[in-house]
Amino acid sequence: MTTTTDKKLWGGRFAEATDGLVELYNASVPFDQRLAEQDVRGSLAHVAMLGAVGILQPDEVTAIEGGLHGILADIRAGTFEWRLDREDVHMNIEATLRDRIGPVAGKLHTARSRNDQVATDFRLFTKEAALDLAGKVRALRAVFVAEAHKHLTSNGGEPVILPGYTHLQVAQPILLSHWCLAYAEMLERDESRFRDAAARMNESPLGAAALAGTPWPLDRFQTASALGFARPTRNSLDSVGSRDFALEFLAAGSILAAHLSRLSEELILYSTFEFGFLTLPDSHTTGSSIMPQKKNPDVAELARAKSGRVFGALMGLLTVVKGTPLAYNKDLQEDKEPLFDAYDTLSITLRLFTDMLPRATWHAQATLAAAARGYSTATDLADFLARSGVPFREAHEIVGALVGLASRTGRQLWDLTDDEMRAAHPLLSADVAQAQLTVQASVAARASYGGTAPTQVRAQVDDAQRRLEVNA
Ligand code: ARG
Repeated sequence: MTTTTDKKLWGGRFAEATDGLVELYNASVPFDQRLAEQDVRGSLAHVAMLGAVGILQPDEVTAIEGGLHGILADIRAGTFEWRLDREDVHMNIEATLRDRIGPVAGKLHTARSRNDQVATDFRLFTKEAALDLAGKVRALRAVFVAEAHKHLTSNGGEPVILPGYTHLQVAQPILLSHWCLAYAEMLERDESRFRDAAARMNESPLGAAALAGTPWPLDRFQTASALGFARPTRNSLDSVGSRDFALEFLAAGSILAAHLSRLSEELILYSTFEFGFLTLPDSHTTGSSIMPQKKNPDVAELARAKSGRVFGALMGLLTVVKGTPLAYNKDLQEDKEPLFDAYDTLSITLRLFTDMLPRATWHAQATLAAAARGYSTATDLADFLARSGVPFREAHEIVGALVGLASRTGRQLWDLTDDEMRAAHPLLSADVAQAQLTVQASVAARASYGGTAPTQVRAQVDDAQRRLEVNA
């Protein structure tokens, strides 16, 4: 970035030069140059409209368009000279246009303010980012659905069974496919949150000018449609003063980050020696420089932690916006860095998980053994009694006493003797108990809609695949 200083585009009323530190503090070009593409597109739409409504002459439009295309080419080639003294992306581009095509460049800013300009650029960027993340979330969703499908039969033709937890205590056996679909559901909502947000921000602020609109006979509908927006925004104050579109993006991003963080935590736990459910691929784990045996789940750990950056971006921008009077305030310049950072963070994290998960190996014997531990099928025995007419609360009490007996004597429920079973309730016997207590019987029994029975999960996998085939 060069630090030459020429007269400011807004310098008319100023006699003294800007203090150097103020220039540094005020400048947004180190980060808002990321909006360069959107800025040039916005200017091209604006100048074409100025020509169409007769505010500019055809030769003026041609000169400005030519200059803008040249600038765009330089930006794309990385040869555009960004200057700190030119403050922001908008004035860098406009000043360079003037350097190149002369005073006619000054006509570009007719009926426009940087306030509607930045709102337009940032909305364009955020809408594209939201749709990009929606697509990346969808790709990860597809991975979970494919994994769910695979693990219906990956255990020698049988479904892989996993312990289901509440309070991180073994609760009831579930299918690994069911677990996969739980994440697919969360991600499906994440995707729709980004798409909803993109639809709501799909309005063009261009033409709102500084805050009050403009006396020029603009066609805001033309610029809106040229930029791919559904329509112009309705209120000029709101257009330049609101950033809830960015907040929505960050809110959707924060919820997604929370989901990815929970997933990370499960992958970290399940891949420990103690759990042994899962081996993460070498490509997405790292070693230790001192302990040769180590294989660390760094990607998952970083993803768990990076949720903090995304939440921070949301909290930061909420704090920026709160308490600012209508309409535009320079405070709003602080909207960009957190959003860029959250976008980049989510984008790379989604790609990493999309690559990593299909390459992880699940250990069906270990998950099955773990699923059977911890009296995970005790509810099934209680349900058996309840189906035979014993009030569920009473059945719960009876089985609870049997669990107490088994755990005091270091046994599983299926190790209790016929006499012990019969003593607990006349409808019970060792045979009856053993039939009810297998993990396979337990999962098969949970055939309520949305439950973990293979019949249900198979239907849910089919349905999830169908929803993925439908265009977004
Ligand atoms: N760099 C500014 C921003 O990001 C552009 C708008 C400046 N507008 C103004 N009236 N100073 O918000």
